[in-house]
Amino acid sequence: MKILYAASEAYPFIKTGGLADVSYALPKALRKLGIDIRIILPKYGNISSNFKNKMKNMNSYNVPVGWRNQYCGLQYLEYEGIPFYFIDNEYYFKRTEAYGFYDDGERFSYFCRAVLESIEHMDNFIPDIIHCNDWHTAMIPLLLKEHFKSKQQFSDIRTIFTIHNLKYQGVFSKSILGELLDLSEEYFSEDSIKFHDGVSFMKAGINYSDIITTVSKSYAEEIKYDFYGEGLQGVIRENDYKLQGIVNGIDYELFNPKTDKIIKCKYDLYSIKDKAKNKIDLQKILNLPVNKNTPVIGIVSRLVKQKGLELIAFIIEELLSMDVQLVLLGTGEEDYEDLFKYYSTIYPSKLSSNIFFDNVLAEKIYAGADMFLMPSLFEPCGISQLISLRYGTVPIVRETGGLKDTVIPYNEYTDEGNGFSFKNYNAHEMLDVIRYAIEIYRNKNKWKNLMINGMKTDSSWENSAKRYSELYSSLK
Ligand code: GLC
Repeated sequence: MKILYAASEAYPFIKTGGLADVSYALPKALRKLGIDIRIILPKYGNISSNFKNKMKNMNSYNVPVGWRNQYCGLQYLEYEGIPFYFIDNEYYFKRTEAYGFYDDGERFSYFCRAVLESIEHMDNFIPDIIHCNDWHTAMIPLLLKEHFKSKQQFSDIRTIFTIHNLKYQGVFSKSILGELLDLSEEYFSEDSIKFHDGVSFMKAGINYSDIITTVSKSYAEEIKYDFYGEGLQGVIRENDYKLQGIVNGIDYELFNPKTDKIIKCKYDLYSIKDKAKNKIDLQKILNLPVNKNTPVIGIVSRLVKQKGLELIAFIIEELLSMDVQLVLLGTGEEDYEDLFKYYSTIYPSKLSSNIFFDNVLAEKIYAGADMFLMPSLFEPCGISQLISLRYGTVPIVRETGGLKDTVIPYNEYTDEGNGFSFKNYNAHEMLDVIRYAIEIYRNKNKWKNLMINGMKTDSSWENSAKRYSELYSSLK
């Protein structure tokens, strides 16, 4: 089986969020099952030159963008045995960031078309399925149907579209239909890709792919309703027959406290005591009072509304008046950045705000914190809670999307469960659960059981990769 996995980001080349982790780890797991899956990405300017220097030129040709033709270079690099293709066009992709430009609509119209045009240049790799991810690649199923229908070798290609986050939809002005996508007015209708007055990439993925998946079972349900549907709940419901939720995993080789080279002291289930050394290390690095009995709560997050930071903002003084230390790492909306910076000047011994992103510190938080807080407003899957579980750091989450599917609330009577959770998007409901978690933390035996339950939870890709493989087979 041949699969082309189209995405706008993938570890280790370019990463702004969880999509990058999945675009590396899922194909890696699928290749272990014997599937010839290859990834195709834009060749961004900010990919490290270490990688760029090793890329091999395969071919170059023109790609139609509306009435124009644009250059396209196809490059190739194998990383850890996984084949990656890159679409090279410096005008579109040689920039300092991956997204956030005025012409993103044009850049990804080009990318979607370029992915399809490139297939004939991939020596002998005509995929059975193109697996698209999020809005940046969501136009592919429609362009395939419309512009490649007369090409014999394309006629059997099927498509899967995975929604990692329904909030980001890629909606642009109506003019892109003809000018960039070469599509006629007939597609500007409610049952096609019209969204309000614009054209929606997301809708193209939903309406024209053969199968839709989302990254957890609960999220697949939630997006059928107004609260989570981002205005597309009706379209999702109409396409329910081809929608499935498959929960993400994490790469068990990349995230493993037993082999992790970054953390101060490696540990596993049998040396769980050593985790405390990582906590001391974390406190030292961040200039927090060193005390192994003070519960440390970690947050590693993009600082955006989705992540539920307003709940934390609402109770931050109450939280910091307790015997806890809060360690935050991440960047995002200025209001949140300022808020956390401000409170760390007022409570320097309680709050460490690290407003940047740094992989090393992230690992040290996953390993060193006692608890990990993730009170998301919505969460398609979430990856941080899975890493936390793997590192014996107990997640405290809101019961939504993938958080609900992966964190099982602790039951102090039976010792079952691997974390703590609360239901409503309510700051004091969250604070009550944090208080309860700290109460359990004070009982060393119970806490140890909870850590062990987390570390024993299977969040590897194995099971989910099998489900994707079955889905692929069902389309053949
Ligand atoms: C998005 C979602 C996150 C998910 C990730 C990978 O970033 O917000 O919940 O884990 O995609 O699927």
